[in-house]
Amino acid sequence: MNERIKCEKYLSKVMSADEAAKLIYPNATIGMSGFTPAGHAKAVPLAIAKRAEETGEKLNLTVMTGASVGDEIDGALVRAGAMARRTPYQTNSTVRNAINAGDIDYFDVHLSQMAVWAKNGFFGDIDFAIVEIVGIDEEGHLIPSTSIGMANTYIDCAKHVILEINTSQPESLKGIHDVYTVERVPNSQPIPIVHAEDRIGTEYYPCDFDRIAAIVFTDIPDHGRAVPPVDDISQKIADNIIEIITKETEAGRLPVPLPPLQSGVGGVANAVLAGLKGSDFTDLNVYSEVLQDAVFDLIDAGKIAFASGTSLTVSPDFEEHYNANFENYRSKIMLRPQEISNHPEVIRRLGIIAMNTAIEADIYGNTNSSHINGTRIMNGIGGSGDFAQNAGLSIFMTPATAKNGTLSCIVPFVTHIDHTEHDIHFLVTEYGYADLRCLTPRQRAHAIIDNCAHPDFRPMLREYVEHSCRECAAQQTPHILKDVFKDK
Ligand code: COA
Repeated sequence: MNERIKCEKYLSKVMSADEAAKLIYPNATIGMSGFTPAGHAKAVPLAIAKRAEETGEKLNLTVMTGASVGDEIDGALVRAGAMARRTPYQTNSTVRNAINAGDIDYFDVHLSQMAVWAKNGFFGDIDFAIVEIVGIDEEGHLIPSTSIGMANTYIDCAKHVILEINTSQPESLKGIHDVYTVERVPNSQPIPIVHAEDRIGTEYYPCDFDRIAAIVFTDIPDHGRAVPPVDDISQKIADNIIEIITKETEAGRLPVPLPPLQSGVGGVANAVLAGLKGSDFTDLNVYSEVLQDAVFDLIDAGKIAFASGTSLTVSPDFEEHYNANFENYRSKIMLRPQEISNHPEVIRRLGIIAMNTAIEADIYGNTNSSHINGTRIMNGIGGSGDFAQNAGLSIFMTPATAKNGTLSCIVPFVTHIDHTEHDIHFLVTEYGYADLRCLTPRQRAHAIIDNCAHPDFRPMLREYVEHSCRECAAQQTPHILKDVFKDK
């Protein structure tokens, strides 16, 4: 125990996960650490779920995280009937199904905004922060784990702090974090990051000793998700994106070395990074959310000079290699709070190349990243809006079709809008790409249908454009909306 708690007085706060779980009162709002199943609290949420199951209490908890977390939070608390409300991004099928069934209230927030909302009190009181760390140093500093996400903000804002010291996480993580908090208006200052590697904060979370309610030991590991193999479609999308970036540099619209890259989540996003390995680009920087397998692969290949994110998550297949080479990676990576990794000011200043995945896009360039058929939440908006709205170059990608080619992902009107036509410079599918900059809506429609839609769906989409242009000849963005309203 003393190995991980180097400041003696903190030993008095150690208790079991079951004892810590008893501190949680009904209707509490809890801010949990964790971002893209890494560094999330594990033992205490499992113990809270066990308590709810054993006692039958209605705990009615509001659970806030950085982004997606493991089954120890989203699965266990939902199955135990302990979770009533959830925000923001999530990827666990148990919580997703409960949200879509109306059993859990869910609302979605841009990830960069979470900290501002918490500090300004938009979430109300935050009763507990439950945060995974790897240890406490001689000065009582809390050493973060494999993600930061919202952990620093929850520690700052919560009435009570419960710490999980995870002994399965190596203490060698110490030193890769840069914890910096933006003050509330009117005291906020410019964030002094001008390069992806700039260090501006501390390596630890500060926290008053008196607010620490419990310290729990656990050795439950992170369970990284398997990365889908690069298939033909992802490869073609990746090739198209590399062609865009190459042409932009040739035209002098992008500098070389490139501005930092942000890459979203999912198989296609991973394929794009993997595609850069065979490109001529070197001295790459990443300023993103999640550092996943492809980032480390590019560091190995000598392509990436530095990678900044808020979470470190590798797939089970990559874990052995990553652990064996961690000492080579540590000087080239940094984890920051999501308030900083996703901050509009920094994204705009660095001129980031943002590459995000959409579920569907419409002929005018609006995209849907979060809802299936406009009604069922998939994961949430995540950080895609933070990056798309502020990037130097904003690229959205999607396979041209879904569900074995039966559905076109290019549609007349997206069923849900996360990113408007104003935030997308290029739309990319496996068939090609449309450069939407400076095009009128009608020009965008032609560019998207001709270059991005699956050939089988192009005639239908063209017919829609022709029909709507006939119906709305004098309008800027032709759409056939009148039938919808005809009986009103
Ligand atoms: N209509 C209906 N269903 C569709 C569809 C469409 N147009 N397009 C995709 N789907 C379905 C797929 O069939 C799949 O369903 P399944 O789970 O039943 O197999 C599901 O949506 C997910 O599609 P998939 O291709 O596996 O997605 P992905 O892993 O590449 O992730 C997003 C795509 C958009 C869901 C994911 O990138 C995301 O959550 N984005 C939002 C957050 C974000 O961008 N964060 C990054 C910022 S750093």
